[in-house]
Amino acid sequence: MTLRDTPLRVPRFIQLHREDAVDTRAELAAGLSAPAASIAPKWFYDALGSRLFDAITELPEYYPTRTEAAIMAAQQAQIAGSVGRFRTLIDLGAGNCVKAGRLFATLQPHRYVAVDISVEFLRQAIACLQREHPTVDMLGVGLDFSQTLVLPPEVGDGPRTLFYPGSSIGNLAPDAALAFLRRARQGSPGCHLVIGVDLVKDFATLHAAYNDSLGVTAAFNLNVLPHVNRVLGSDFDLRQWRHVAFFDESASRIEMHLEAREPLVVRWPDGERAFAAGERIHTENSYKYVQESFDALLRAAGWAHTRCCTDERAWFAVFCAA
Ligand code: AVI
Repeated sequence: MTLRDTPLRVPRFIQLHREDAVDTRAELAAGLSAPAASIAPKWFYDALGSRLFDAITELPEYYPTRTEAAIMAAQQAQIAGSVGRFRTLIDLGAGNCVKAGRLFATLQPHRYVAVDISVEFLRQAIACLQREHPTVDMLGVGLDFSQTLVLPPEVGDGPRTLFYPGSSIGNLAPDAALAFLRRARQGSPGCHLVIGVDLVKDFATLHAAYNDSLGVTAAFNLNVLPHVNRVLGSDFDLRQWRHVAFFDESASRIEMHLEAREPLVVRWPDGERAFAAGERIHTENSYKYVQESFDALLRAAGWAHTRCCTDERAWFAVFCAA
């Protein structure tokens, strides 16, 4: 049978995550009312925020995406050797599915499962990938995998490889990262893992990556406020806030905040919060690891046979584990 005769597979989609509007608003209000106000980073990613994040990955200062892609391209054979033969590639936080798509030729999965919070984000990307890889069975799953990594039966049996690129693990505090890595292993017993991790480097490079000269990261951070206004019914005025990002060496993390430019009050149905000039809302942490500490985290979570591939500057690492 030639490729032309191969029946085109049609991707399937399952939405498991349902947002509870009341809980969501309560969570946002609690974060804003806490003595140290915070908004969880998941609120960055509305339609505009997702595009702004894509733009960040193209910035000269934001090295992680291109460095990871270069490691994966240069070390495909080692990565394929580490994960061995498997059936199903599970892409956690798949987004535009581009990173996983680049590995298809080497890893040759039979089935590709793209997991993201909403299957709506995935439809177009999976449809494109399916056209490029007509013989791979594709499934989109809408799941909040920060809460659960129990995958639906449609994922099927057979050896799995979990793929978690982009150093998204860095957006979790180390104890939450440990719990996540444990859940990942328990949710897919016997699987392999390929995970991207950003590493500690000179502070100027780290600082610039989150304070780019075009101001895209600032826009990405500020864009959380109109998103929260829509969900919570609050009245944040963008013009009263500014982007702040810095490396906290003691915690080994970039912190992002929004800082009030003047004294102000934010109101929402059933609540309000006064901010003094200079007071901040914490919006994101991005932890940076040293190779040994991430390796230790993987092992503490029960992963073994860890292998680290890095670039020549050792700015970023791709770990494989079993
Ligand atoms: C998604 N995550 C790994 C990015 C990071 O670098 O922590 C999010 C980001 N925040 C600002 N720039 C990029």
